[in-house]
Amino acid sequence: MTSRLRIPGLVDLLRLDDPASIADASEDTRLDREFTGGGPLLNRLIARRIRRTLRTPTAPLPSVSPRTYPRRGERQAELRTRLNGFVSAGTIAPDHVAELAAYVRGEREEDTIGPMAQEAIGRLFVSDYRATPQTWRAACVLEAAPRSMNLLRTLYWIATGAVTRSRRVLCGAVGDDPPAVHATAIAVHSLVRSLRAMRELWLEPGARDRMSKPTAVARCLRAPESVPRRWSAAATTKWGTFPVGALVLLRLDAARIRHPEPEITFMAASWSHCPAGDWTMALLGAVWESACSSESIR
Ligand code: HEM
Repeated sequence: MTSRLRIPGLVDLLRLDDPASIADASEDTRLDREFTGGGPLLNRLIARRIRRTLRTPTAPLPSVSPRTYPRRGERQAELRTRLNGFVSAGTIAPDHVAELAAYVRGEREEDTIGPMAQEAIGRLFVSDYRATPQTWRAACVLEAAPRSMNLLRTLYWIATGAVTRSRRVLCGAVGDDPPAVHATAIAVHSLVRSLRAMRELWLEPGARDRMSKPTAVARCLRAPESVPRRWSAAATTKWGTFPVGALVLLRLDAARIRHPEPEITFMAASWSHCPAGDWTMALLGAVWESACSSESIR
């Protein structure tokens, strides 16, 4: 469903959740991740929140960097090559697959999955990365802060400095490396939702006996709920006419339900594609396989 919230001068926000529109939107060069400049009042506030929250001390996180941001594309390609190297070598997350499988089998508490997934991802960047309740809480704050519509919670975060503190914790853990901060603060939530879905699938009668690994992975994989874009030039499109600064939310997880393919889940055909698509699928496959095959490691 395409829906637009528009009050001239105050807000202009288009939500897209049909796969064809998302594909068209991601090809339109006027629709980018440049969260600076003009636009209706609320749009400017939202863009400012994205800009101030999702960054290291010196750079925006790659998931909110414009397509031509210096070295964005090269870093995306380098990370993809490095992660695919782990997949080819069979070293996807050597210290964590068994524990993640124990979680899927219901042998670990629900609240262990966030830190466990965060640590598995963190180790891709820092060999001794240690997730703690503090790093996981920080990831929850950083992910929620730019999208929160809860005024009281936002005021509380401002008063307590929670967002700044969370950013400091997560940046400090990976030496301010923007892709690593994105991975351990933002991307980790899609992985956690996928592993939660796997834990539910595990309980479905017969699933672990008859379901193939690719089917199980496809059933569990979750996309980011939505990713933001901003019109960097005025545009007349099939969805209407938009001023500079109008915002668009690509509602990927809703689209994924209708079209569960990498083009949606990882935006695989887009300039902004996820460099960790193959690694993520390989990890989920390894966890499912381990959950199905191994004895309890309680
Ligand atoms: C279930 C797991 C994951 C899903 C579904 C997912 C999906 C996505 C999607 C849809 C984008 C595009 C965002 C946009 O266009 O605005 C993206 C970008 C990105 N993802 Fe993932 N991701 C996952 C896990 C990961 C992991 C584990 C890492 C790192 C190890 C990672 C690193 C990145 C990076 C660096 C970008 C930014 C690429 C760029 O535009 O330069 N992702 N991801």
